[in-house]
Amino acid sequence: MSHADETLAAYEGIAPRYDELNARTDTAGLVDRYVEMVDRYGPGGRRLLDAGCGTGRSSVAFRDRGFEVTGYDLSPAMVATARRRPGAEGIRFLVGRLQSPPPGLTGFDAVTCVDMPMTYLTSEDQLSQAMAAARDRLVKGGVLVFDLNTIGYYRRVFGTPGVADRGDRYVTWFAESARIEADAVVVTRFDLFERSGTTWERVSMRHVQRHHSDRTVRGAAERAGLHVVATRGLVETSAREPADEDDHDRILYVTSATAPSGV
Ligand SMILES: C[S@@+](CC[C@H](N)C(=O)[O-])C[C@H]1O[C@@H](n2cnc3c(N)ncnc32)[C@H](O)[C@@H]1O
Repeated sequence: MSHADETLAAYEGIAPRYDELNARTDTAGLVDRYVEMVDRYGPGGRRLLDAGCGTGRSSVAFRDRGFEVTGYDLSPAMVATARRRPGAEGIRFLVGRLQSPPPGLTGFDAVTCVDMPMTYLTSEDQLSQAMAAARDRLVKGGVLVFDLNTIGYYRRVFGTPGVADRGDRYVTWFAESARIEADAVVVTRFDLFERSGTTWERVSMRHVQRHHSDRTVRGAAERAGLHVVATRGLVETSAREPADEDDHDRILYVTSATAPSGV
């Protein structure tokens, strides 16, 4: 199975329960950091394309902050869940890949990829293709904003096997990759055990992601006709400067086709 097919299978399988299983993820707090970057570095308009929108959590958070939102995602099941999301009325949700978005989408002030969709692109070529696709959907001065896991995060969270005990539900995870290296693919196996009457049901999935180093991101951006105009380190949802690959959980990148002055 290709890496993209594994990602599709993982999200198709988990879609109906994605929100419940990720209830502790502070998507609204993450979106607040995105909005700060769009307000500061974007062209001032409010048309936003939420790429890798999943079940629509990030899309609704942007809409609640005054944006006119279109979302799209690789997984039809995630998109179907987004379309049923209470509060998502008026948001258009489509199916498509970061590297080849649904047709007819242009004129956006910002393209966003919230909560690491870009980490599922497992080569520098794919990353560059996704950036070029985003660039083509932006107005002049528009920004592509995305977050990526740091190498420190991959090592801290996936480097040793983990287990979360939620009573009638256990989640275990471990990195199948022998070592977690810069710019390498990180394969993590998740097993979800849930009590069902007197027995337990098990759901297994693999997440195939890639660490993208700062050098790789900047190279991919340049090849896509974009420039990195700002970065922030994120610790949970709190922003730090300068971004640090070891200490912080994620790096938030702001890119634009317009060359930065003095960065
Ligand atoms: C962790 S979820 C985040 C969803 C949403 N942005 C949020 O904040 O709730 C990552 C999403 O990225 C999507 N994704 C992964 N690879 C993708 C690709 N190549 N093209 C489009 N979406 C992709 C997955 O299907 C999944 O819905």
